[in-house]
Amino acid sequence: MRVLGIETSCDETGVAVYDSEQGLLGHAVYSQIELHAQYGGVVPELASRDHIRKLIPLIKTVLNESHTQATEINGVAYTAGPGLIGALLVGAAVGKSLAWAWQVPAVGIHHMEGHLLAAMLEQPAPTFPFLALLVSGGHTQLVEVAALGQYTVLGESVDDAAGEAFDKTAKILGLGYPGGPALARLAEQGYADKFNFPRPMTQRPGLDFSFSGLKTCVLTTWQAQTDPTEQTRADIARAFEEAVIDTLAIKCRRALQQTGLKSLVVAGGVGANQRLRQRLLQLTKEIGVAVYYPRPLFCTDNGAMIAYAGALHLAAGHQESLAFSALPRWPL
Ligand code: KG4
Ligand code: ZN
Repeated sequence: MRVLGIETSCDETGVAVYDSEQGLLGHAVYSQIELHAQYGGVVPELASRDHIRKLIPLIKTVLNESHTQATEINGVAYTAGPGLIGALLVGAAVGKSLAWAWQVPAVGIHHMEGHLLAAMLEQPAPTFPFLALLVSGGHTQLVEVAALGQYTVLGESVDDAAGEAFDKTAKILGLGYPGGPALARLAEQGYADKFNFPRPMTQRPGLDFSFSGLKTCVLTTWQAQTDPTEQTRADIARAFEEAVIDTLAIKCRRALQQTGLKSLVVAGGVGANQRLRQRLLQLTKEIGVAVYYPRPLFCTDNGAMIAYAGALHLAAGHQESLAFSALPRWPL
């Protein structure tokens, strides 16, 4: 089965062709970062308009690069939510229309399910069941993944997501948008022990997270600096990154012990953070658990994870009617 995948939930237009026998045949991501950078964040209306401009040319490019004729596509998968409603509607309308024109089934995919399954595109691929740490700009969740469609959220952030905390902290430190990668780069120049930030909610039992207090802690620390140097800024960035990573690692260890699962899968944009990857590698080695990461490009939003999730759902017989809706809010 050959599936066209379309991702337009936020500020990345992602397209891919996945073949269940041959694997990923082609993929491309067009990022709108430059468009939104001047505003310091994603402007939803501009995002929708840019998806309209970029999506169809990107589909043509990916079909060409994957040597796929329209007649060879057996299904279309698109991100149906959660995300920005206007942006989602572009992908849903194009995906559904193509499926109708090509007379093939369409399937709307949950964006976070796409992230959850992204590591399965890599070699070696994880197999069910596994524990997933989903860390993106909108979500921070620990999910027990028993099988396709069988997801139990064991814990999640009660306020800011980890990526959101990275972005907001980057803004406090005067770094540009998108903040996460910029903060991680700055942290490379910093010393971890110059500042000490809390590891929120690690002292009490449970698997929930809270990152908004940590961000406020950085704000008060930053404002208290009378004559901060570039080194101070890097030290604060490093201490913040360390606090987030430590917190995520403590909760992963707890969830693995609690569930007895032997595989940990990391997913979502923050999963591209090299120091987080190293820390979880160290932790899992220590406790005899296997860890799986998507390549950094497939940690952030992309069409490949949607095409892959679509192929699994279509193979399981899931498909929908011609009517479609996009869901800006949609629990996993
Ligand atoms: O999964 P994603 O592309 O979009 C959402 O579904 O939210 O995640 C984007 C988030 C942003 O908050 C971004 O700052 C963060 O992932 N991010 C990082 C890194 N790369 C992306 N955070 C920390 N370190 C990174 N290297
Ligand atoms: Zn995402």
